[in-house]
Parts: sequence; C-alpha cells; structure tokens
Amino acid sequence: MVKIGIFGAGYVGLSTAVCLAEKYDITLIDIDPEKVGSINNNRSPIFEKDLDDLLNSALKNKKFEARLFSDKFSPFDLIFITVGTPSESDGYIDLQYVRNVSKALLYRKEEFFLSNQQTLIVLRSTVIPGTTNQFFKLFETKRLARIAFSPEFLAQGTAIHDTLFPRRIILGTNDKETSMTLKEFYFDFYNKKKIPLFTMTIESAEFTKYIANAFLAMKISFVNEMADLVEKVANAEIDDIIQGVGSDPRISPHFLRAGIGFGGSCFPKDVQALIRFGENISAETPSILSSVLKVNENRPFRLIKLLREELGDLNGKKIAILGLAFKPGTNDIREAPSLRIIQALWRAGTLIKVHDPLIPRMNLQSYSRFSVEVHHNILDCVRGADACLLLTEWSEYAETNLEDLTKEMNKKIIIDGRRIFLKTNIPTNVRYITIGNPHNRFTPINHT
Ligand code: UGA
Repeated sequence: MVKIGIFGAGYVGLSTAVCLAEKYDITLIDIDPEKVGSINNNRSPIFEKDLDDLLNSALKNKKFEARLFSDKFSPFDLIFITVGTPSESDGYIDLQYVRNVSKALLYRKEEFFLSNQQTLIVLRSTVIPGTTNQFFKLFETKRLARIAFSPEFLAQGTAIHDTLFPRRIILGTNDKETSMTLKEFYFDFYNKKKIPLFTMTIESAEFTKYIANAFLAMKISFVNEMADLVEKVANAEIDDIIQGVGSDPRISPHFLRAGIGFGGSCFPKDVQALIRFGENISAETPSILSSVLKVNENRPFRLIKLLREELGDLNGKKIAILGLAFKPGTNDIREAPSLRIIQALWRAGTLIKVHDPLIPRMNLQSYSRFSVEVHHNILDCVRGADACLLLTEWSEYAETNLEDLTKEMNKKIIIDGRRIFLKTNIPTNVRYITIGNPHNRFTPINHT
C-alpha cells in the first residue's frame, strides 16, 4: 500500500490526510503535541463539515496516525508538505516552516526516503515562485528524492468536498517523469474521474496559486467599490446589477458578493505576499494588488460609519454582533472583519455582545481585551441592543424571522454586512440598512 507522510496538521494537512486515509496509509506529522494528541484522540482541532466523521473512520481503520515531528519514522513513497506560510511583520512571506521541513528531510534522510530516488516530495503550501526549487531542488541534485509543487485550492467550510472533488489539479515539476508519477497517483486517488489537470514548471504552478487568489480577492474589492457607488443612487441595487453583469460568462457572478470585505488566512496574506514579492523582483509596487488591499482594509469602517449615521455618538451604546467567523462553515476568525469592527466599537466606548454558532469551538483570545459579552443564543445576544450588526452569513441567521429577532431590542436597527435579509420581508417598524443599497429604501421592490 502507498505510504504517505503529510507535514503540517493545519486545515489543509488534516483535510487531505483524512480523505487520503480512505485509500492509503497516512502519517500526519506536526510540531504541536497538543494538536497531535487531540487528533489521535479523535478530536479535530478545527471545524470542517464532514471532517469529524472522516477522522473517526480513519482512526478506526488504523491506516491513519498523527505523529510528532521529533518522532522516528520509516520511509514514505510520497511526502506532502502542507505547513503554514504566514506573513512576516512587513507582509513578506515567512518560510520558516518550509525551511524546517526541508532541513529535517535532509538531516534525517534515512528515516524519510526510500532508496533510488523513489520517494516523491510534493510541496502544497502556498509559496512565492522559486521557493520549491530553493528549498528542495537539492534533493534531486543529490539524487535523494524527486520533487513537485502542486497547490491546494481548498476553501474553508468546504475543505473536505474540495479535496474529494477538486475543480482542477495543477502539477509543477522539473521533469516529465516526475509529472507522470504524480499524475498516476492522482488518477488512482480520484478513480480516473475526469478532473482537468494542468502540468507546468514548478515556478508557473507556484504563480498559479497566487494569481488565482489575487484575482478572486480583486473581484471582491471591485464589487465592494461598485457597491459604494450604487448605494449613492436611489433605486439602484447591487445584487440585481451583479446578476446582469455576471451573466456574461467572461465575468461570471461568482465572488461578486458585496459586503464587509474578505478575511481569513489566505486572501489578505497572499495578496500582501505577492505585493512584497513583486516589489522585490521588479522594484515597483503592483498597483492593482495594493488597491485590492486598500479597499478591503476600509470595509469594516463602512459599517461603523453606517452605525454612526443611525446612532450618533456610540459611547455607551449596546451593540449586538451576529457572526465572528470570517465566513460561514468555519470556526476560523483569522483576519475576520469582525475583529476590526469590534476593535473600532470598543474604541468608541460601546458595550459589545457577540454570538456565533461556533463560539464553543473558537479561540476568542484576540477578542477578550475588548470585554465582549459572549452569548450562545441569538435572541439573548440582541436583547436590549441599540443596533445589531450582522457580520457572517450563517444560515441560522438568514432563517431567523426579523420580527422575532428585533422584538426585544432597544432600537430595532439591523445593519447587515452580508446582505442576507435583503430579499426577506422586513417589518415596517425595523430599520434595515445594508451595504450597496440606498438607505432610504428599506423594503426591496419585487420585480417578479
Ligand atoms: C480561498 C480560496 O477561495 C480557495 O480557493 C483557496 O484554496 C484558499 O483561499 C487558500 O488559499 O487556501 P478561503 O479563504 O477559505 O479560500 O475562503 P473564500 O470562500 O475564498 O472566502 C474568503 C473571504 O472572501 C471570506 O471572508 C468571504 O466572506 C469573502 N467573500 C467571498 C466575499 O466577501 N465576497 C464574495 O463574493 C466571496
């Protein structure tokens, strides 16, 4: 049976590991003893749909195990590297974890590699072009292992689905033979399903991942800037406009949902890293990418501005926040717009009440200094509030009747950062405000 080692038990490593464990012998390797212990005890450190079930069956089938980096290993056929590539303080990519894995593979080569260059190392972490060869080419030169770069395109909230049914596979290698080996592995895992597969050089594959993320982030900032214009014109509505605009297949309606901007562990960090990389190689700042970030950084303050227009001075006001996660389906709050909104509210002297369906699985350390009042029930959270800000489009919120939601609020003001209530019946006594919609029109016109 193919024996696979996966370095890095983050959301990419863990999701990949439990999916591959259906068919192969998997060892998931991490430096964090707490994470390793929790995974082996059948407790996933992250929340992802279907992950708990897959982890449970992987552990039961005994073809899966999490191990510490410092443990002893025996050679693998395939090594996937899915360690984090965070930002340094100046926004440049921090490659320390990739470097550490490369060093360990070199110093402990007998533990990890089969003889005769039979082991294939596949880097899947998002890295700037040139990184794979910088850290791993020596394994080919020294004839220890073969190398490839094959980026992941998993989105949080759908990581398991995206692993099992990828839209495309990108495969970067230094030679055709390695490319064939990895292709065969993918064909085997995906049962010859017809998934578009593109082979290219390692550097092109590294670029593909960055440019894909930068393009998606650009679409979001673009639609947000347009939403701000639309908002100034009576009777105009951004969703209707996007329906028309996106019907052109050259544009597509995807990733054109206006709101409070993008967060998470990928877009903000990747766009920033690409900017720094661009400056480094061309001595010029990529201007479109800089604007993408600038527009996004201002998004949370748009909501605060709308709130001030309603309540005036915010000092002493009670504000309910629905949704902390950067998107629904995840307990991840990294770079979530909620953090900057809460920080701004706290500075303005408000009392902050928060709710998120996944609060029990969130690490709220970064929010604790803002003295937030945590609620596990939506109605408890909004009770007595002077306004409610909706920051994550969880279905629990979209399914809540606005009359019930606002019943015990001090002032019935809803500021919807994700536009989820726009097409619902808004009670006449509720002041409903959302981005990309003129604020003098609280009940949408039904054209159907
Ligand atoms: C993103 C990409 O979508 C994945 O393809 C990629 O593999 C991943 O980054 C990565 O590099 O690992 P992710 O950050 O998990 O995935 O989530 P997205 O669904 O892309 O959402 C990112 C942010 O954009 C969220 O805050 C979301 O609310 C926001 N967004 C998304 C919008 O504001 N409007 C939209 O139309 C779409």
